[in-house]
Amino acid sequence: MVQAAKISDAEAICDLVNYYAERGRMLHRSLESIYASLRDFHVCRRDGLLAGCAALTISWGDLSEIRSLAVTPEQQKRGIGRKLVAHAVAEAKPLGLKRIFTLTYEPEFFARFGFGVIDKETLPTKVWRDCLHCPKADACDEVAMILEIE
Ligand SMILES: CC(C)(COP(=O)(O)OP(=O)(O)OC[C@H]1O[C@@H](n2cnc3c(N)ncnc32)[C@H](O)[C@@H]1OP(=O)(O)O)[C@@H](O)C(=O)NCCC(=O)NCCS
Repeated sequence: MVQAAKISDAEAICDLVNYYAERGRMLHRSLESIYASLRDFHVCRRDGLLAGCAALTISWGDLSEIRSLAVTPEQQKRGIGRKLVAHAVAEAKPLGLKRIFTLTYEPEFFARFGFGVIDKETLPTKVWRDCLHCPKADACDEVAMILEIE
């Protein structure tokens, strides 16, 4: 079951995201940034432990972003990633958001849910505020993808 994150999830979310960041599969997040955006996060738990997380962040206008989607190695391929994406889409609709984008190293995964590749340059400048602190800011190699919400 997908649930809103609690403050007690923050450290486990940070550890999970940074586990993949250290392996080049996601970008690093500080614990400070996780606390600041904790209300954007939803999680799946298994046996009381964090199994997966994702954040839906409002970017600009009707545009939002799925960030920090990660499932623990032990819990992958059990539908948790799918549930987290579906929950983010379901959360975006009643807010009136029309588009969800993501920056990812896993384009095939997001393509399964209708996300299409776009040119990063088409995203509004405001989106890049977090990139100012990224070591790859000038050489971003993530794929930008977007889902138009029906
Ligand atoms: C990508 C990730 C979130 C997928 O989570 P998951 O819980 O294993 O995914 P699910 O079990 O919900 O998979 C749903 C479907 O996508 C497929 N899938 C899973 N990972 C995939 C991948 N990397 N590429 C393509 N398809 C993938 C599954 O086979 C499944 O297909 P099916 O419905 O035909 O059976 C997980 O592998 C992960 O945390 N990876 C490391 C962090 C990361 O890359 N995050 C992505 C954002 S940058």
